[in-house]
Amino acid sequence: MPESEVDASSPALAPDTLERLRELRSRYPVARSAVLPALWVVQDELGYLPPWAEEVVAEQLGLLPGDVAAVASFYSMYFNHQAGRHFVQVCLNVSCALRGADDLLAGLREWLQVDEEGASPDGAFTLEGTVECLGACGGGPMMQVDRYSYEDLNLDSAREVLERVRDGAGGGAGA
Ligand code: FES
Repeated sequence: MPESEVDASSPALAPDTLERLRELRSRYPVARSAVLPALWVVQDELGYLPPWAEEVVAEQLGLLPGDVAAVASFYSMYFNHQAGRHFVQVCLNVSCALRGADDLLAGLREWLQVDEEGASPDGAFTLEGTVECLGACGGGPMMQVDRYSYEDLNLDSAREVLERVRDGAGGGAGA
């Protein structure tokens, strides 16, 4: 559906976001190649990907809504519900598990007081508890906060990282 046909009573993306989607579509010769960056653009605006927004992405890229929904549901970095401002993943795969990842995750869950969807009450964090190898096996246990990795963690050092992130001083190279 062209942009002009979008129901005015429906939620809508910001004009800048729509412009970025159109720019992405023109950059890639194959529309499907633009789905991942397009979903990032939308998630950056909304904080998650509600079904209506996935439909807008499909419309802007000339794809079927199911094509976009399939991609959005496959990758753990895309959220289908309102998430905290920062996304925390603790790797539970073998190397990290052998070095205490389960205890680290349990400790962080308790410290952050997350609900069943992993959200902390202050809205600062969403803690993902089922993620597999994040590619830093030599530095387990590790966690990824937004797009940065932190390694060789214990509960104290992980809490220090998250406090810095919550205070706006986090990010950058991992520990
Ligand atoms: Fe944890 Fe690979 S096993 S990063």
